[in-house]
Amino acid sequence: MAMLENSDLKMSILFFFFCTLIGFSSSARVADKIYDDIQGDMACFKRFNGTHEIGCSSDYFGNVGVLYIPQNETDAENAITNGKHHPYILAVTPTLFTRKLLMTAKNSENVKGIVLLDSQLKQIESSASTTCPSHEYGLYNYSSGSKYSNYCPATESWNSAGNSLLYESFNFPIFLIQKEESIQAIKSCFKTYSSSDPSQLEWPLCAIQLHSNMFGTTNSEVCLRRKHNAVLAAANYCDEIHDYNIIAPLNPMVGELEDSSVIVIAARADAATMFDNISPGADAAVTGLVTLLAVAEALSSYKTEIAQSNKNIMFVLFEGEVWDYLGSTTMTYDMNAGKFPIKPSNSSDDSDQVSQFNFNNIDYFLELSQIGKQSGSKSNIYLYNDPISDDGIDEVNALNKKVREALISSGNIFNVSVTKPVDKNSESYPLPPSSVQSFLKYINISGTVMADHAGDYANRQYQSYMDDYKNVDYTSSSNATDESDKLHQHLGRIASTVASAVYKLTSNSDTPIEANYTLINELLLCFLRDVNCTLFREHAGDLLGYTGYFTQRPAKMYASVFRGEDILTNISLYLMGHFLGDAVNGTKEDCVSNSKSAIQKFFLPLVGENGTCIESTARLHSAISPAFTIPGYNFSSGEYPTWTESGWSVTKARLFLKPNPAEEVGLVVGGMLFIIFTLVISYWANEKADVLFERMPDPAFC
Ligand SMILES: *[C@@H]1O[C@H](CO)[C@@H](O)[C@H](O)[C@H]1NC(C)=O
Ligand SMILES: *[C@@H]1O[C@H](CO)[C@@H](O)[C@H](O)[C@H]1NC(C)=O
Ligand SMILES: *[C@@H]1O[C@H](CO)[C@@H](O)[C@H](O)[C@H]1NC(C)=O
Ligand SMILES: *[C@@H]1O[C@H](CO)[C@@H](O)[C@H](O)[C@H]1NC(C)=O
Ligand SMILES: *[C@@H]1O[C@H](CO)[C@@H](O)[C@H](O)[C@H]1NC(C)=O
Repeated sequence: MAMLENSDLKMSILFFFFCTLIGFSSSARVADKIYDDIQGDMACFKRFNGTHEIGCSSDYFGNVGVLYIPQNETDAENAITNGKHHPYILAVTPTLFTRKLLMTAKNSENVKGIVLLDSQLKQIESSASTTCPSHEYGLYNYSSGSKYSNYCPATESWNSAGNSLLYESFNFPIFLIQKEESIQAIKSCFKTYSSSDPSQLEWPLCAIQLHSNMFGTTNSEVCLRRKHNAVLAAANYCDEIHDYNIIAPLNPMVGELEDSSVIVIAARADAATMFDNISPGADAAVTGLVTLLAVAEALSSYKTEIAQSNKNIMFVLFEGEVWDYLGSTTMTYDMNAGKFPIKPSNSSDDSDQVSQFNFNNIDYFLELSQIGKQSGSKSNIYLYNDPISDDGIDEVNALNKKVREALISSGNIFNVSVTKPVDKNSESYPLPPSSVQSFLKYINISGTVMADHAGDYANRQYQSYMDDYKNVDYTSSSNATDESDKLHQHLGRIASTVASAVYKLTSNSDTPIEANYTLINELLLCFLRDVNCTLFREHAGDLLGYTGYFTQRPAKMYASVFRGEDILTNISLYLMGHFLGDAVNGTKEDCVSNSKSAIQKFFLPLVGENGTCIESTARLHSAISPAFTIPGYNFSSGEYPTWTESGWSVTKARLFLKPNPAEEVGLVVGGMLFIIFTLVISYWANEKADVLFERMPDPAFC
């Protein structure tokens, strides 16, 4: 009898252990079922300037909250203040993603994160910039005695749609989700588990985990110091925002340049948003950039004529302008220090080095700002000059007038109406935010900014992820250019107007110069819809090897950090070089140049049967703020830009079912009791092993 009882016991104990083992080993698969990964690559991240931090970060292991999808603002505020299942992670549509809601969430303990669900159905006003972009680093704050010093913040604003969210700091993560399957997963999880009357809600509830932990903190000075003091160099607290300006004279610049002999035509090449991996900057950057490339291409056929006029034209693309005019600040700083575009060399090896270029060489400065927003079939362009120098200095006034008249008369040929707008008091506007302001801090030259707005920005999405092809009504599809598209026709008219006006100003000839409209359409397609386009692939050079870059998506216009986004910068450089330069014989091995030379060479393997070597004047100029190179720079002085970007390891988001917190505690306590129980059992089993392990039962039924 005793023996029989013992073997029954043996059987049940072994059966119990075996089943427990299986239970543990299958728990991994259960986790897969509860956690559902959703789109997590467009997270808001931290950036720093000399005194502040902006952007978002999650806790080290990510933030977790019960999903709540508010129907309207009241609903959202109710959940934040009275919700019973906090902490929450709110999922909102663009309409609810307002400054008011975000600030309420920021100041509440009950919100652990926000996801912005955007199915891209409609465009709504959503500029994340300020109402006076980069005012503190512009000309008028700098010339603080003038009547324009407080123009923007006090009297009018350039960007009345600006909500400044880009410059806020949040201690929780914010993710943008655009992939439809992720949006549906969130909505259906909420509908299934959470949507009934909030007071009746029962666990388990749908929850979200957002992971976007940032390594940097506080401000650029602190995080750079930490980075440099780090014992283990691996810690990536933050990196300076750093990219390259592109400069490209029409004819090579060698020897000493004459005063007032170079016309600068400039545009900005960068834009930003709150989120990683998306900065389309369609109106903010792409329209001006593409038009500038088209003007360069059109004028390249007139190099000889322009050289005979003893003038030259320098095309400039500024990088990092969003970040307190990083590109133009660096360029003017280097010019003032006598090391632009390169530090001059006395070595005989560098006898063909590019000329030193300084402020006095500038004849006048023409800047293409935002120029894509249009209504109707006629193109309207507004011109701005700095009223302080325009009113105060006769030479500047005369030059500004000459430039304006040239633009107006060539505008007449190409159906572009060019006007100089006045404000509500019928007075001249000061310059809108523009790169030429950095130059006017050093010298009173003639500067003209061309834009699509008279006063307040026509672009209501300035520095928003919504400043994309839809914002500028670009109609070409992802793969093919659409000849009926209005945007490329509009930019084509402007490029033709600018090219003809500049030609008249240099050679005094009335010959109209028409830009290449097809090329503009192809460029727009590449920047706004598909960086994997033929034109970009052909102009990527060796960078084509970065296959991850070349997928169908819009260009990311963010300036980023060293080696961050330089593929796009190089493509722009090669496009510019190819448009202005000459194809020469030579293999890839022969196609190299001294970095100081006026003529630079680069190789395009996909152009021509065996690849093509291009000789051109186009070169890069490093845009790293003087704040990071001047020893002992005072980071709170506001003299130079001080922006850095935090490092992080990964950003990801997932959905799961969260049980009742009481149950969770119960589960942990239960688990611990269970462990103690099994320890006792196994101790006992060990003691009785001689009786227990006489015969092995077959645990076939667990
Ligand atoms: C840094 O950014 C914050 C927020 O935009 C601003 O208030 C502050 O003046 C900036 N600091 C410097 C040194 O530019
Ligand atoms: C901008 O204006 C403010 C207020 O007048 C002043 O404190 C600050 O120093 C100015 N910044 C620069 C760079 O001049
Ligand atoms: C430009 O001209 C204005 C008006 O004459 C003057 O106040 C200002 O100081 C000048 N700027 C420079 C950099 O010389
Ligand atoms: C564009 O091209 C890709 C690959 O060649 C193709 O998969 C896609 O369907 C095309 N899209 C359109 C809108 O034609
Ligand atoms: C390309 O290379 C091949 C083989 O060297 C040569 O026969 C051909 O002529 C080259 N084509 C051109 C356009 O140079």
